[in-house]
Amino acid sequence: MEKHTDKPDILIIHGPNLNLLGLREPSYYGPDTLDTINQSLFDMAQENQIMIDCFQSNHEGMLIDRIQKAYQEGIQFIIINPGGFSHTSVALRDTLLAVNIPFIEVHLSNVFKREAFRHHSFFSDIAEGVICGLGSSGYLLALKNAIKRIRIEE
Ligand code: DQA
Repeated sequence: MEKHTDKPDILIIHGPNLNLLGLREPSYYGPDTLDTINQSLFDMAQENQIMIDCFQSNHEGMLIDRIQKAYQEGIQFIIINPGGFSHTSVALRDTLLAVNIPFIEVHLSNVFKREAFRHHSFFSDIAEGVICGLGSSGYLLALKNAIKRIRIEE
């Protein structure tokens, strides 16, 4: 696949049901909406003169297509909260392995304090790092780290 360079540097991927943040189980996920979280990420990106793209889908295939497109765009780093797909999706894992773009896995809630089925993720063993239980500030921490990493690469 051909690479382009005039595209975002970092891709933020939000999986299923994360469009319902603010409304959805606030005791686990906090009061912030996805728009608020994305805005704070765009602000941090702008301060650091980095281009980001934020993408949310409830559909596994759409997430796969977006990550495949990230390869063509020459995206250097991905931050992903796979939501419920964290615990089920071999296909999404395979996509991240196929494009070979380094990524950080983020969870708003501390999945290890919750049901046993949330303790296994199909992403953690292939991620650069995993942040969980810090709420929306986990995304900002991930972005700060991703910016540092791509600066070192340049
Ligand atoms: C989540 C945790 C998952 O177990 C859950 O299915 C989600 C959100 C989190 O951000 O804490 O959808 O990824």
